[in-house]
Amino acid sequence: MKKTYITTAIPYVNGTPHIGHAMDYCLADVCARYHAMIGDEVRMQAGVDEHGGKIFQKAADLGIPVEEYVAENTQKFKDFIYKLGVHYTDFVRTTDAMHEKGCQEIWKKLENHIYKAKYEGWYCTGCERFITEKEYEENNGVCPDHQKPYERLEEENYYLRIADFKDRINQAIESGEMVILPEFRKKEILKLLADSPDVSISRPKEQLTWGVSVPDDDTQVMYVWIDALANYITVLGYPEKDILDWWPAEAQFVGKDILRFHAIIWPAMLMGLGLPLPKNLVSHGMVLANGQKMSKSIGNVVDPMEAIEKHGLDAFRYYFLRHIDTFADSDFTWEKFDNAYNNELANDLGNLVQRLATLAKKNNITINDELKFELPHEYTELMNNFEYSKAFDYVWAKVQDINRRVDEEKPWSLAKNGETEKLNACMVGLINELLSVNNMLKPFIPDTCKKIEKVFADPITPPEVPLFPKQ
Ligand code: MSP
Repeated sequence: MKKTYITTAIPYVNGTPHIGHAMDYCLADVCARYHAMIGDEVRMQAGVDEHGGKIFQKAADLGIPVEEYVAENTQKFKDFIYKLGVHYTDFVRTTDAMHEKGCQEIWKKLENHIYKAKYEGWYCTGCERFITEKEYEENNGVCPDHQKPYERLEEENYYLRIADFKDRINQAIESGEMVILPEFRKKEILKLLADSPDVSISRPKEQLTWGVSVPDDDTQVMYVWIDALANYITVLGYPEKDILDWWPAEAQFVGKDILRFHAIIWPAMLMGLGLPLPKNLVSHGMVLANGQKMSKSIGNVVDPMEAIEKHGLDAFRYYFLRHIDTFADSDFTWEKFDNAYNNELANDLGNLVQRLATLAKKNNITINDELKFELPHEYTELMNNFEYSKAFDYVWAKVQDINRRVDEEKPWSLAKNGETEKLNACMVGLINELLSVNNMLKPFIPDTCKKIEKVFADPITPPEVPLFPKQ
């Protein structure tokens, strides 16, 4: 059995989960379910990023001990993942003793590529990122994402010598050893890599204590990204355990805003450790509200729980996985969500199930429940390439095809005219097609698929209430 490891970015726990966080989880969940469906043994990680100045500051502002603050928010993320119907096998907190120990071991193994030097430059605590002079000038000294002036830092730091790995990373990306998706991001990353200086990987404890201590140096903590990136392997037990059964990951899901860390610092760390690179770095776009970035100050933040409560979990997953493009930035608007629910889920799928099941029951149609469905090549190709919104479109076109066939073949007329054999062949054909489509929908809207399977099990039983009642 092929072993497949899938990862999600670990969010900062400086607030409650928002709709953007759902993206990594939902995409990774589709990937995990698809791989399980094609027979792989799957492991999927999730977790939380608890260290760094941003979180420390937020807890201090609220007057809560930071340990308490991160524990509270971690639970909120766990609840959130559960409510999305997402199943992970491994969960990591970056404050876990095992993770911290793993980070320190990793640091020691990288020591040949680490040196100490003075850092004089800019930092954005919102992004938890060192800012180059060029970026500072381009943005007139203010972070466009956080609307806060960059901080000036002058401190002794440890650096990771990216120069040691640049050529090899470049080659790994160019050759497809580590695939970056979507393809157009690859060019951006190659350019960033070419210009990438060595990166600062620690902060003096005088400035920040909330982090993993650098081994054998009491004065420094690790830069939050070193600690965070390590989670993907510490959660597998690295370095105590041999992780090569599971590593390299089949896919690492990250937002486009954090691809640079995963495509430059992370491969450098892995190469320094002598570990293979992930097979695919899948970077998704941003979820926007009416074309705008969601922000508390604008007041356009969509609460994912409200969306789930409004039309149910699978309606949310449906909208999120089909109408939020896997790779491009896409809008979430209540109007689009309501339309998708009523016109697509309720009309295209819900009505189809109801109509076919009612006709089948009335005419005593039975289905061979031993059927095995082949996944069409077009579908597997899209799924294997992580083109989930396109795969969903492909499957939905099939749902619409079945609706068209029902209208054309008019099984109710066959019944009325007593053409029993024709009626039977027509209904069995339509229901089998629906079940085959249902099979392809399983990674996306699993609860609905289970209900549909139940409806068409022997004896066929139309749902007592519509799968998606019109609202
Ligand atoms: N802690 C880092 C990740 C470390 S991974 C080793 C971080 N956290 S985050 O909370 O800012 O973001 C977590 C994930 O949520 C990222 O993949 C990010 O791209 C994603 N999103 C945050 N806001 C988003 C949207 N509005 N839309 C889509 N995804 C977004 O970065």
